[in-house]
Amino acid sequence: MAKKQNFNWKIGAPLPRIEAHTERKLEVIEQYLDVYFDTVTANRHMDVLRITIVDGFCGGGLYQKDTETRYGSPFALLYAVERAKIRINADRHKPLQIAAQFYFSDANTLHMATLRDELLRSEFASQVDESIILQTGNFEDLLPKVLTDIKKRQRQGRSFFVLDQWGYTDVPMHCLQKIFSSLHKPEAILTFSIDALLNYLRNDGKGLDGLRQYGVDDDFVRTWNELKEDENFGRATAQRSIMEALRHNSGAHFFTPFMMYSKTDKRWMLLAHLSKHQAARDKMLSVHWDQQNHFRHIGKGSLFEMGFDHRLVETKDALFSFLDEDEATLMQELENELPGRVMDNMTDDVLQIETLLSRIGNLTAAQNVMIFRALQRLVSEGEVEIEKKGGGRKKASTMIEVSDKLIRPSQPLLFSNFGKQKVD
Ligand SMILES: C[S@@+](CC[C@H](N)C(=O)[O-])C[C@H]1O[C@@H](n2cnc3c(N)ncnc32)[C@H](O)[C@@H]1O
Repeated sequence: MAKKQNFNWKIGAPLPRIEAHTERKLEVIEQYLDVYFDTVTANRHMDVLRITIVDGFCGGGLYQKDTETRYGSPFALLYAVERAKIRINADRHKPLQIAAQFYFSDANTLHMATLRDELLRSEFASQVDESIILQTGNFEDLLPKVLTDIKKRQRQGRSFFVLDQWGYTDVPMHCLQKIFSSLHKPEAILTFSIDALLNYLRNDGKGLDGLRQYGVDDDFVRTWNELKEDENFGRATAQRSIMEALRHNSGAHFFTPFMMYSKTDKRWMLLAHLSKHQAARDKMLSVHWDQQNHFRHIGKGSLFEMGFDHRLVETKDALFSFLDEDEATLMQELENELPGRVMDNMTDDVLQIETLLSRIGNLTAAQNVMIFRALQRLVSEGEVEIEKKGGGRKKASTMIEVSDKLIRPSQPLLFSNFGKQKVD
């Protein structure tokens, strides 16, 4: 397979050429980790941050781009921690220590030998076999021991997993379940080759049992067979089926599942961020908005449904690309759609903003600030009121916060439209 040739490492052999989508993927990981470290160290009283960083498909460490050498994921992770140490301590009187433990592993012996060799020739040499643990093996087999080590070392289990498989079968759902059920603060970035899965179904489609965990069931295959010549439909259904399956089966409560397109290879890849906290989802979305136009979602960005959605076949919704014009459409749609969601989720005319974000977080490309802007509009129209933490109403012009509550006024002014979604 062509894609595997781009991930071959051997000591002394030429480095693999980096593909554009690998560069994008690494940029997202690096940028997200910058935001991540800034957020989790915001508490000025903290003096040590303990974290474990696991790269379960680490490869050999370096790539070639024209005449330059580029870092692969293990070096990207090590440098993200080094950058964070400098940035975070720049304006602190009492220094904050980042106590990071790294687990780098790969099933390929040659790749691991190459990575060890590169690390030993790098500024990280003294950390090898100390805070950098190198292991050869299948991720699935190595995971249980890694989880045991994390739990021994860290009460909170703060951890970051990079699961950069090259197809779609090497991170079985039970691995994600183990990560998210046994640790308190894990996050993961998972790649999943949608096109490899679709090609498999196109060519063969046998052996469905292994694919059920990703939402590919008999119904899916039947419909796929009827409509597989329609590329948009194929991508849309696969994307949503997998999103839905991850939501249901992984045990991570939140994820941002967006697609990357490789122009050179003409193939689609899912890059999903999984976490247990709404705030982490919001931070990841900020990276997608920042990386404008490199990520796509098929259909609307405002509020979408997941799972198999036959309406997509009929409407052939456009691609959502995190561009400025997409934001304008998203805001317009949110303003139409949010009142209904707010109403449906209220109990006794009250809804915690945090609850709203938890319920719609997986179904929108909107960052919290965009959702707040749409809610602010409702407040200014008198449709809802905002109660501050600790009581008291907020003015329509005051910033909404996650700790606020939405209250339905006892005598709404214009309730004629509230709760009714606009039907296009
Ligand atoms: C996409 S490449 C990783 C690239 C790397 N993350 C980077 O950014 O430079 C996938 C890697 O997974 C390894 N691999 C394949 N199957 C595996 C498995 N079951 N468990 C662990 N590693 C595996 C391959 O040897 C390959 O090095």
